[in-house]
Amino acid sequence: MKKHSRYIPALHYHWLTRWYDPMMRWFFPESGIHANLIAQAHIEPEQTVLDVGCGTGTLTLLIKQAHPSVAMYGLDIDVEILQIAQRKARQAAQNILWQQGSATGLPYPDQSFDHVCASLLLHHLTRQDKQLMLREALRVLKPGGTLHVVDFDTPHDFGMQLISWLMRWFEEIHDNVLGLLPVFMANAGFHPVEAITHHRTVAGTIALYRAVKPAA
Ligand SMILES: C[S@@+](CC[C@H](N)C(=O)[O-])C[C@H]1O[C@@H](n2cnc3c(N)ncnc32)[C@H](O)[C@@H]1O
Repeated sequence: MKKHSRYIPALHYHWLTRWYDPMMRWFFPESGIHANLIAQAHIEPEQTVLDVGCGTGTLTLLIKQAHPSVAMYGLDIDVEILQIAQRKARQAAQNILWQQGSATGLPYPDQSFDHVCASLLLHHLTRQDKQLMLREALRVLKPGGTLHVVDFDTPHDFGMQLISWLMRWFEEIHDNVLGLLPVFMANAGFHPVEAITHHRTVAGTIALYRAVKPAA
């Protein structure tokens, strides 16, 4: 498998990767956010779905279990976390096409997917790489296909403002807190770009966005 030297692992340090799933279960409302994503995605039978920055594959597996006839792909840059995802899929007896690679250079042909999901990926990417990833998502989506983004966003109440103020310099979160994700999605060519839900978390406001690749 290809080595990519510079990326931010799931919990910032490689030695924490094995604790990713327990941490998410204990401290993060991931099941509610994933349920909202799947409910609003309107995935149809036989469609093709890509989960970019799939991590331990929790969302990837949930989508496949909710829609067994879809062709489900999971991509991550980190070999170690992909091994956890593969093990979980084997245990759940789900057939998922895992791939190691970078979100900034997706190893798929143009117009391959009906849906692309990016859950908690964008705040791991620099501003330039966020924009590259979004252009890659647009490229691999079919016309009329949909991008579903879960990530940090502008704080939507006073408590979240305090947390965001502390978190803004962590990893690559600052652009998210400034509200630039929908701007980057629109600049990449998505239209419309809609915020579907906002969630309070211990790390700040998390938003779910839905962005469509125009049909024409
Ligand atoms: C916070 S985790 C999110 C995992 C999962 N999507 C979730 O919602 O739980 C971020 C993931 O992005 C991956 N990642 C970071 N940079 C990446 C890149 N350039 N291309 C693909 N994946 C990347 C990390 O390895 C990590 O698994």
